[in-house]
Amino acid sequence: MVMKVAVIGAGISGLTSIKACLDEGLEPTCFESSHDIGGLWRFKEKPEPGRTNIYQSVVINSSKEMMAFSDFPPPAELPNNMHHSEVLQYMRLYAQAFKLLQHIQLQTTVVSVRQTLDYASTGQWEVETESRDGQRETRVFDAVMVCTGHFTQPHLPLKDFPGIESFEGRYFHSWHYRNSEGLQGKRVVVVGIGNCGGDIAVEISRVAEKVYLSSRSGAWVVSRVGQGGLPADLIGTSRMNLMIGRLLPSWSNMMLEKHLNKAMDHKLYGLKPKHGFFAQIPLVNDDLPNRIISGRVQMKPNVKEFCGSSVVFVDGSVIDKVDVVVFATGYNYSFPFLPAALQAKCGYRLRLYKHVFPPALKQPMLAVVGFIHGLGAVNPLAEMQARWAARVFKGLATLPSEETMMKELEKDTVIMHQRFACSNRNPIQVDYIPYLDSLAEEVGVRPNIPWLFLTDPRLALQLLTGPCTPYQYRLTGPGKWAGAREAILTQWERVLQPFRTRVVPEPESRPSSRRGIIVIVSGAALLCCFCYNKHPLSSLLSLQSLFKSPQ
Ligand SMILES: Cc1cc2nc3c(=O)[nH]c(=O)nc-3n(C[C@H](O)[C@H](O)[C@H](O)COP(=O)(O)OP(=O)(O)OC[C@H]3O[C@@H](n4cnc5c(N)ncnc54)[C@H](O)[C@@H]3O)c2cc1C
Ligand SMILES: *[C@@H]1O[C@H](CO)[C@@H](O)[C@H](O)[C@H]1NC(C)=O
Ligand SMILES: *[C@@H]1O[C@H](CO)[C@@H](O)[C@H](O)[C@H]1NC(C)=O
Repeated sequence: MVMKVAVIGAGISGLTSIKACLDEGLEPTCFESSHDIGGLWRFKEKPEPGRTNIYQSVVINSSKEMMAFSDFPPPAELPNNMHHSEVLQYMRLYAQAFKLLQHIQLQTTVVSVRQTLDYASTGQWEVETESRDGQRETRVFDAVMVCTGHFTQPHLPLKDFPGIESFEGRYFHSWHYRNSEGLQGKRVVVVGIGNCGGDIAVEISRVAEKVYLSSRSGAWVVSRVGQGGLPADLIGTSRMNLMIGRLLPSWSNMMLEKHLNKAMDHKLYGLKPKHGFFAQIPLVNDDLPNRIISGRVQMKPNVKEFCGSSVVFVDGSVIDKVDVVVFATGYNYSFPFLPAALQAKCGYRLRLYKHVFPPALKQPMLAVVGFIHGLGAVNPLAEMQARWAARVFKGLATLPSEETMMKELEKDTVIMHQRFACSNRNPIQVDYIPYLDSLAEEVGVRPNIPWLFLTDPRLALQLLTGPCTPYQYRLTGPGKWAGAREAILTQWERVLQPFRTRVVPEPESRPSSRRGIIVIVSGAALLCCFCYNKHPLSSLLSLQSLFKSPQ
């Protein structure tokens, strides 16, 4: 009998979960409450309660090769950092290519997910749905994948802002923000310096009289445009950088902050946070420094109180005649349809083994996909979680005992709380590549780079020193894709293609110096390959790992 899987939500996580089920021969039924796929990336003219929302100008902060699905490279002509409409277009292409749409029931909301009475023996779930006309229906599924996103509840703690009830201007949460219309010539205070707050402050500052950007903690600001104009995340996210970061953590943190301060002194600009670069997701914003130097945006500390039309800050400074306040104070999550027992916590995080499986279940037949946060795009993370979940459902991968999972979870949580700035609303952050690798290990698709250096050095060099793009998790093992090697070797082509709209003629080339560089880089890479692994020093000693063949 084919296993039936309920997939809840048809955003990035839901689509890739449907695909993962199909790849493993499971039968997915996806329930999506809205009238279309896309989730967050489907722009809504009017905010829809209970759903994520984006403003008109959102451009994704990850570049296209980093946010690709692992067996579906984005078309070469798409820009590197896509507008939200292009992200949706890419999702539609993915859904079409793998025939996912026929498994989706639109305008169907999941209202409850409960274990059947004989769950201990069958692992089955009763899933109750409600269609648009209010019809309720309950069906039994062998497994459930929860893909409902986590930026759903606007968080606006008004009690933290004394006097707000007397404020004479207009105020709203960034969830309501669409564009700067109606804010021409106004004096605006934006509270909060997450990616939303930064974007909105910059955009409003083009039409407003003045924008004041208030931040309690400050932030590290990085650009989409990196060295040489190439996508910064593509250059920064490599296994080589990870290795260096592990060998010399404080040194690499210092070098990075130095590098960022060279572009813009964060202290001078009033942005410098107390936390180190890696403790929190940075602000991705190419325009903020420019808006500050031109005086259109002014940085301010935390708000102390509101008084009439004035805003008082904790340093005692006062801004008068404020017309509008935008609270970019973030979001919270909720899973209203899940049993409370499955929403137990461990520290700030939900009690989920590797952020996917509730350990207490008698049978591991429910997985949460996409409830994750790392310094990188969500697609590869959600996709790997879904691939793992599908294999666990099918019995091809097994979980440790509940006790072992709980122990690991608790250990994990302590480390996470030490390293990252977590809180109730930002309960998770993971190290991007190591987290992907750890799930890839479970699925059996982690690339064996030392072995590749012996068999396919050109590819190995790309995996080690090049961007850590998701195609490398399709080179071997279950779900292997014949096009993966080619996708890796041609990734820079797809990066360069959208720039070729005015081709500048090549000057005469000098091939000899290039060959020299290749020799040096290969040598250095081979050296690094000796240090590659979880504990660089111990693996230096265990050189035999070099000669381990792939399973
Ligand atoms: C402003 C903003 C910018 C962002 N920018 C980036 C970025 O640049 N890069 C990046 O990687 N990430 C970014 N993110 C993170 C973003 O959450 C992910 O990119 C991605 O959208 C997550 O996909 P998802 O499928 O998990 O969730 P969503 O996209 O939120 O999709 C969830 C889907 O589930 C449906 N649903 C919910 N409840 C139910 C129910 N009970 N029954 C049926 N259907 C239901 C919803 O209608 C929705 O379609 C951004 C987030 C925000 C808020
Ligand atoms: C956010 O949501 C979670 C789960 O619903 C809840 O436990 C937590 O208290 C909420 N936090 C805030 C600040 O509202
Ligand atoms: C991109 O922006 C979203 C929304 O603010 C955020 O959740 C995500 O972490 C950001 N990604 C990176 C790589 O900074």
